[in-house]
Amino acid sequence: MSNAPSPVRHYLQFTDLSADEYAHVLTRAAEIKRKFKAYEKYHPLADRTLAMIFEKASTRTRVSFEAGMYQLGGSVVHLTTGDSQLGRSEPIEDSARVISRMTDIVMIRTFGQDKIERFASHSRVPVINGLTNEFHPCQILADIFTFIEHRGSLGAGGNVLDCLQGKVVAWVGDGNNMANTWLQAAELLGFTVHLSTPSGYEVDQTVAGLRSNASYKVFKDPQDACRGADLVTTDVWTSMGYEAENEARKKAFADWCVDEAMMQAAKPDALFMHCLPAHRGEEVSAEVIDGPQSVVWDEAENRMHVQKALMEFLLLGRVNV
Ligand code: CP
Ligand code: NVA
Repeated sequence: MSNAPSPVRHYLQFTDLSADEYAHVLTRAAEIKRKFKAYEKYHPLADRTLAMIFEKASTRTRVSFEAGMYQLGGSVVHLTTGDSQLGRSEPIEDSARVISRMTDIVMIRTFGQDKIERFASHSRVPVINGLTNEFHPCQILADIFTFIEHRGSLGAGGNVLDCLQGKVVAWVGDGNNMANTWLQAAELLGFTVHLSTPSGYEVDQTVAGLRSNASYKVFKDPQDACRGADLVTTDVWTSMGYEAENEARKKAFADWCVDEAMMQAAKPDALFMHCLPAHRGEEVSAEVIDGPQSVVWDEAENRMHVQKALMEFLLLGRVNV
């Protein structure tokens, strides 16, 4: 059943998997979700251990990885900066060497992307990015799964990615880790991102690691970015690690609140997504996030299903049971 990738594969940014591998992982996520809903036992990772390292707070990432690993038959070790030697300046390279000798797969949430890359380059086992300042690939994997679940077909044969072709995703807000990852996904999977960020908070194409500017368009007015969109999405005005800028950001982002007027500019069947946690009245109105076009709860739940499929792929290769 298993055909574990060799050499070890990491998931540090969205471009670490090919479109063909995404088609496989998303199809597996649908099957793994079906098994979960039917209470069908599925323990392909029995005797495997996931180490989760958090240098920033989390609710969804922690619960989805921890519950997901147990559901696959494995177990979990949870480490934070405060309760490990990471907080007492043990080099990240040494931590990687040690942790990867005792566990089978590692998930890290940290600050700079360079830190997770240094960990991965000294790890014997796959490393997954659970959010860095630059990227949040597990979240975009869940968002794309959620879009396909609502607007495409999963498990019905054919290529699950087909429904993304030519679609428009409107990004309203900060040019942050989520925006960068949406842009990587658009370039790889064939859709377009309409970006609207306040001045001074634009996406940096080099940081996002894009090959060109062909898969996105920039709009000054967020309502223009939403025009004709199939999906409207946003995120907090102040990401973790940027709290000192909070007051300045509140002023700069005041016009970047996804409200009903923005949703009306989008296609009538447009979906609304937010990675959560959300601040109603800041980046999104309560009417939108709690309204009929919002799929944020499916989006949050799907983190668990897609990450189970991702761990299965990184540890066992292309499984089909
Ligand atoms: N969306 C997300 O990653 O949520 P947490 O910060 O709660 O993990
Ligand atoms: N951009 C946010 C996402 C939180 C899940 C942050 O980095 O804090």
